[in-house]
Amino acid sequence: MEQYIVKGGNPLAGEVVISGAKNAALGILAAAILADSPVTISNLPDVNDVNVLLEAIGETGASVLRIDRHTAKINGAGIYNCVVNNSYIKKMRASYYLLGALLGKYHHAEVALPGGCNIGSRPIDQHLKGFRALGATGRVVNGMVIVDAKRLKGARIYFDKVSVGATINVMLAATMAEGRTVLENVAKEPHVVDVANLLNAMGASIKGAGTDVIRIDGVHAMHGVEYSVIPDQIEAGTFMFASAATRGDVTIRNVIPKHLECLTSKLREIGCEVSEFDDSIRVVCNHRLHCTSVNTMPYPGFPTDMQPQITVLLSLAKGTSIVTESIFENRFRYVDELSKMGANVRVEGGNIAIINGCEHLSGAQVSVPDLRAGAALVIAALAADGVTTLEDIEYIKRGYEDFPEKIRSLGGMIEEVSTEREINKFRMKALSM
Ligand code: UD1
Repeated sequence: MEQYIVKGGNPLAGEVVISGAKNAALGILAAAILADSPVTISNLPDVNDVNVLLEAIGETGASVLRIDRHTAKINGAGIYNCVVNNSYIKKMRASYYLLGALLGKYHHAEVALPGGCNIGSRPIDQHLKGFRALGATGRVVNGMVIVDAKRLKGARIYFDKVSVGATINVMLAATMAEGRTVLENVAKEPHVVDVANLLNAMGASIKGAGTDVIRIDGVHAMHGVEYSVIPDQIEAGTFMFASAATRGDVTIRNVIPKHLECLTSKLREIGCEVSEFDDSIRVVCNHRLHCTSVNTMPYPGFPTDMQPQITVLLSLAKGTSIVTESIFENRFRYVDELSKMGANVRVEGGNIAIINGCEHLSGAQVSVPDLRAGAALVIAALAADGVTTLEDIEYIKRGYEDFPEKIRSLGGMIEEVSTEREINKFRMKALSM
């Protein structure tokens, strides 16, 4: 079985280039099928979730041409199949974007109920609420979500919960609906704006993305464009925190510093030196950090997708920190694994972690419960004394391109291994250093 093996203790140093944003790419690829001419998307991250979605898009009959590792050309003209149900798609959350896109274009879609990381119950009631308000029917039959409409008509929709997925999905469905749709209490994440920017470039009329209210005037047809995905702020944040946890000096390139403001402020607050440039950020840390409190919130608040990484960082800080998870109810499943490495973290009420900072973590055998927790455990392993092995790394591969390679380029010692022999070889090398 594939594992990562990590020898900790080396401060990360150097430069790392951030890939395109996975979560933006997923919405953007679904949006691309709305046109009947080629949409070329560049800066796609080469990660499993993106590759699975591209395969699913191909199964609809759309043509998908992989021009190079990070660029795909999609033409939705040939779509003949609005049923998406392969074994892979069931494992990913963003499969639901095909519901909105196919419903918007063909007024019918059947997509396997979305899976994704097990970080709490992940309902899609707000997506369905939006589709229904536009005039569609929505039901779940044998694990498939089926949406249907004779016609789609613009409507005013207030989301009861701020949801990235529901905002993007209903925006996709409304782009070609008749008349005006007003979406209220929407998510403001950079990837919502990125999907809206692509849709506008394809001929849509969407205003207000990035604010609480999005106004969409339906158009009859969309056309092909060339578009580049924004950089991944969660990958960038992961490297910022890895630099801090290992007392390193890392410059993170190809980022939009504005998207990272709340991470930058938190790092400064706990004692890191962070310098912002036009499209890069440098994080320097050469001492033990201080405790703080963190509450995850929708953008521009502290992202839930960085919660495990900051918990790891604070498990090494001076004093007692409190991290409250307000978005997903089951997002501290990695704490048991982190405790095996010597962290002193207690979870109360399922969503509050009380962290008594310790001076050192130590290597252990841990398993990865979900994507971001996996990245956080890698950070812990890089900061720890000794060797850590991480199992179930397929979660990490869903969202981080070339993670071991990028870490090695910063001086971190990490390998992907699959045999006892490779593990022993790594241990021998680690011992000799
Ligand atoms: C997206 C991201 C994920 C991130 C999350 C929050 C993708 C592919 N994934 O997930 O990495 O952690 O945003 O930033 O972009 N909710 C409902 N009903 C719904 C929809 C959501 O109650 O119909 C709730 C969820 O249970 C959760 C909250 O709303 O408590 C936010 O979820 P949402 O923003 O929808 O997350 P995702 O889009 O699934």
